[in-house]
Amino acid sequence: MKKIIFKMLYILYKWCNYKHKKSIQNFIKKFDGGEMCSLWLRKIFKDYHNIMIGEGSYGGCFRTENINANTIIGKYCSIANNVYIYNRDHPCRYVSTHPIFFNEKYGDITDKNLIEYKQKIIGNDVWIGQNVILLASVRQIGDGAVIGAGAIVTKDIPEYAIAVGNPAKIIGYRFDDYTIDIIKKSKWWDWDFEKLKSDNKYFSQISSFIELLNYEQGRPII
Ligand SMILES: CC(C)(COP(=O)(O)OP(=O)(O)OC[C@H]1O[C@@H](n2cnc3c(N)ncnc32)[C@H](O)[C@@H]1OP(=O)(O)O)[C@@H](O)C(=O)NCCC(=O)NCCS
Repeated sequence: MKKIIFKMLYILYKWCNYKHKKSIQNFIKKFDGGEMCSLWLRKIFKDYHNIMIGEGSYGGCFRTENINANTIIGKYCSIANNVYIYNRDHPCRYVSTHPIFFNEKYGDITDKNLIEYKQKIIGNDVWIGQNVILLASVRQIGDGAVIGAGAIVTKDIPEYAIAVGNPAKIIGYRFDDYTIDIIKKSKWWDWDFEKLKSDNKYFSQISSFIELLNYEQGRPII
């Protein structure tokens, strides 16, 4: 029965105005396991907004008004509510930057004038703080990266880097290269959600996490 209701809401969504779309999102969030887990919510975002959101990710990634199409967000990302993700700019080299000259919504735009949303990929376990703006020039935020509150990000951020400021600069890395390699190879974000919750005690210290990996794999990884 639940499945039929979700399916109907999914179909209905296409024809709804902004306010009703929000209501459908909220209903699905509430009754399909919350925004960290809901597959229907993810399906709506993927099919209607071209925003792909991995399992476990939550927060601002579900705000269509802040996030452009063609965004891929990995698993277990924490995105603050006021994050803006832009994937295209108004054309600074046209005679005018106004959308009637490049946005198909306003009329017959030739292919030449159409400005497409470039793809932006945000990795797994990325934390993006309050009031961050990711500009259209950014193609990739690496796994495990942290973007500090208020940053304006103009360039790609490597995995496990901590970046702050305007323009955002890297102030350090969460771990050394060796540890990053171990975490990346573990691909813990592909583990089952319930397993992650039950094993959460191993995640607060890298030494415990390595113990867990050794136990799981039946052989020492270091
Ligand atoms: C970036 C952050 C995670 C701290 O990372 P950290 O590696 O522990 O950094 P530190 O606190 O040691 O600060 C290192 C330097 O960066 C500066 N800094 C820290 N956060 C900054 C920020 N957001 N913008 C600008 N500078 C910042 C500090 O002032 C310090 O500068 P100094 O070396 O000149 O003294 C944290 O400051 C932050 O921005 N958190 C996001 C909070 C938020 O938005 N939460 C929303 C809920 S999801």
